[in-house]
Amino acid sequence: MKDAAPQAAAETVYLKDYTPFGWQIADVHLTFRLSPTATRVLARIHFAPNPGAPKQDFFLHGEELRLIRAAIDGTEVTPEITDKGLTCAVPDGPFLWEAEVEIAPEANTALEGLYMSNGMYCTQCEAEGFRKITYYPDRPDVMAIFTVRIESDLPVLLSNGNPGDRGAGFAEWHDPWRKPAYLFALVAGDLVAHPDRFRTRSGKDVDLNIWVRPGDEGKCAFGMEALKKSMRWDEEEYGREYDLDVFNIVAVDDFNMGAMENKGLNIFNSSCVLASPETSTDGNFERIEAIIAHEYFHNWTGNRITCRDWFQLCLKEGLTVFRDQQFTADMRSAPVKRIDDVIMLRARQFPEDQGPLAHPVRPESFQEINNFYTATVYEKGAEVIGMLRTLVGAEAYAKALDLYFDRHDGDAATIEDWLRVFEEATGRDLSQFKRWYSQAGTPRVQVDEDWTDGTYSLTVRQHTPPTPGQPDKAPQVIPLAVGLLGPNGDEVVPTRVLEVTEAEQRFEFTGLGARPVPSLNRGFSAPIVLERETSRAERAFLLAHDTDPFNRWDASRELARDSLFEMITKDAAPDGDWLDGLQRLVADTTLDPAYRALMLSGPSQSELAQMLHTRGVTPDPDAIWSAAERLAQATAERFADMLPALAREASVSAAYAPDAEQSGKRALGSAVLSMQTRLDGGYAAEAQFAAADNMTQQLSALTQLIRADRAKAALAAFYEQWQGDRLVMDKWFGLQVGAAAPARAADIAAELTGHDLFDWKNPNRFRAVLGGLAMNHAGFHRADGAGYRLLADWLIRLDDLNPQTAARMCSAFQTWTRYDADRQDLMRAELQRIADKPNLSRDMGEMVGRILS
Ligand code: ARG
Ligand code: ZN
Repeated sequence: MKDAAPQAAAETVYLKDYTPFGWQIADVHLTFRLSPTATRVLARIHFAPNPGAPKQDFFLHGEELRLIRAAIDGTEVTPEITDKGLTCAVPDGPFLWEAEVEIAPEANTALEGLYMSNGMYCTQCEAEGFRKITYYPDRPDVMAIFTVRIESDLPVLLSNGNPGDRGAGFAEWHDPWRKPAYLFALVAGDLVAHPDRFRTRSGKDVDLNIWVRPGDEGKCAFGMEALKKSMRWDEEEYGREYDLDVFNIVAVDDFNMGAMENKGLNIFNSSCVLASPETSTDGNFERIEAIIAHEYFHNWTGNRITCRDWFQLCLKEGLTVFRDQQFTADMRSAPVKRIDDVIMLRARQFPEDQGPLAHPVRPESFQEINNFYTATVYEKGAEVIGMLRTLVGAEAYAKALDLYFDRHDGDAATIEDWLRVFEEATGRDLSQFKRWYSQAGTPRVQVDEDWTDGTYSLTVRQHTPPTPGQPDKAPQVIPLAVGLLGPNGDEVVPTRVLEVTEAEQRFEFTGLGARPVPSLNRGFSAPIVLERETSRAERAFLLAHDTDPFNRWDASRELARDSLFEMITKDAAPDGDWLDGLQRLVADTTLDPAYRALMLSGPSQSELAQMLHTRGVTPDPDAIWSAAERLAQATAERFADMLPALAREASVSAAYAPDAEQSGKRALGSAVLSMQTRLDGGYAAEAQFAAADNMTQQLSALTQLIRADRAKAALAAFYEQWQGDRLVMDKWFGLQVGAAAPARAADIAAELTGHDLFDWKNPNRFRAVLGGLAMNHAGFHRADGAGYRLLADWLIRLDDLNPQTAARMCSAFQTWTRYDADRQDLMRAELQRIADKPNLSRDMGEMVGRILS
């Protein structure tokens, strides 16, 4: 129903208002009679008063449900129903609640609750989707034992926990572990399994399955291996064993996010689990391995110990991201993983933390919790845990984690609980450290050095700029890992962690024979912006000598950024000294090819825009693009003589394997091809495209051909080859927009939205095209506003169907105040147009409101 009336302001929820629910639940029995248009859900729930809660009315969440009947202790009742849920008079003591509701999974385009994807039923309940399935206290601190019966003629019927009775047209499931409703899941469909088995360290056998649509069986093997490695790793590194007889993973094509850790029944966006060498890139394989690990690790950090309320989201997400990062570092190259993570953090979290959407790792209020599944909660949340581990040391960290699992198993916990186990395990006072959870914004750290009479000192000053609602910040605890290098490049002081706690603090190093060169924030020990006046010579020295692989890479990155700054603002030539240093490093065959490939990838254009803005220069996206092009061209020319040798080094003769070693070589090969294409116009890329037998090389060749404006035939051939594969077609759609020349990106995106295979209701496809546009920096920011307009048009359109995905993509506008007045006007107008849309969702209303404020 459309309603043109002005929108009512959405309600804001506050952390400070937390109140426990008035009842506890002993057990929940659910029966699903599945039908696309009229599924019946019967619930039987035993409630008993919660002695720890204040008196309150009996309220159950429920949205978009048709109540058929409700009864208390067998007597029919008539609850009072609103669009948020129901209230009902209930007995003083324990009682049995029964309700039957009807829902229409086929009509559910928001992909939240029970919905259909390609003929299969599936669910997504985190954060607040269960209330679209039945009336329930849909909050993470209400935990219960679930027993589920599914009635349907579909061959595969799955839910959480262990399998129970099954027969013609039904299956039953029982989950012995108490859980909140957001971990509920149900899947029904015509699926096939890729089965395996895992023996836990205490000798229990677990049946493992990856369930897919017929035809996708061949894309499961890698995910299954990743799952088994994750299970083993969590036993070895965290002492955590799996706790059910089965572990099921299901691949779903229509999914708002990456994946979901439902107890014993993880549901994955098919793009995050299905993989084969022909259809997936090395990057896809690595990401799939990490996401499978992430969801599996949630079994302990999220499920066995869950969150008291959604403000505590980082309790499970920050920790689980940190754990999956450790896992990947162990499986692959630790330095390369660290650099990848920091690139991601700077590209996605820093803009968030330094713009209108900034919020603390533990937010204090929200309108729509789905808007807070952010890089801040996830990735900065993981950084905070990394800092904690750095401060207390690996051993104390392990001790604190053991205490956490011991003490809070079965709990819905808080950040206070989490910090308390560290305080008890280490005797440390973490009250100042806790500011990392409450203060938004990226701390700026200035470092000045002094050298007098053989004493070297560093003066460290910190300040965090204001963020929405937080004008003043107090000093934070910053673990600053520092090493000192002598004039000949030897490390004279190995890495030590300076604990910065004051606004200004001085650290001294004595007994040095000569003035050293500092290597600061090694391994990116704290998620800060380091502000320090350094000479190019000093950075070049670090690029040549630093023993810390992260800082060595970062020195190069800073030199590249500085060079681009000079090119953009003063029309300078590319920095030849930096290119010399880079060349020496890349020529060093003792270094990992993956690492050298990272060295060759320059800063992104949005990172450059951010840098210019920070240095007081209004970023001009076209100028940034052309400077980046000139630098890439100069680099290619400089490396020309080296390319044949590098290409030989990058070549892989063994059969394709998505492991760290081979992917590193292919990454170097892609960097070489990109340089080669700038020299030969696409000749080598065409040859690689024609010969490629894996997606990594096929796609890297296609990317170069698009950049060289020579991709017509290749795009057509790629389409011919892959039109039947949804995941590969997402790449085809995304790449054409993402790699397009800026002047054409918006037009190409617009044209692709008219393509037969542009299924805009599928979040992956929508993101491929519109997200691809947002990622093409100069293309999105085209001066006439075509990029802004196209994105806004589609977000407005998607909002009615899938507010969650639409709202997430609003963040493309979050940096709008960085740009010139004309672009600001254009972006503001589009944001206002979204804000004025009739029936704007709460999700989008909140995002646009925050971005404009
Ligand atoms: N807990 C999931 C994960 O990080 C993410 C699910 C978020 N879903 C949502 N609708 N907000 O693995
Ligand atoms: Zn997670």
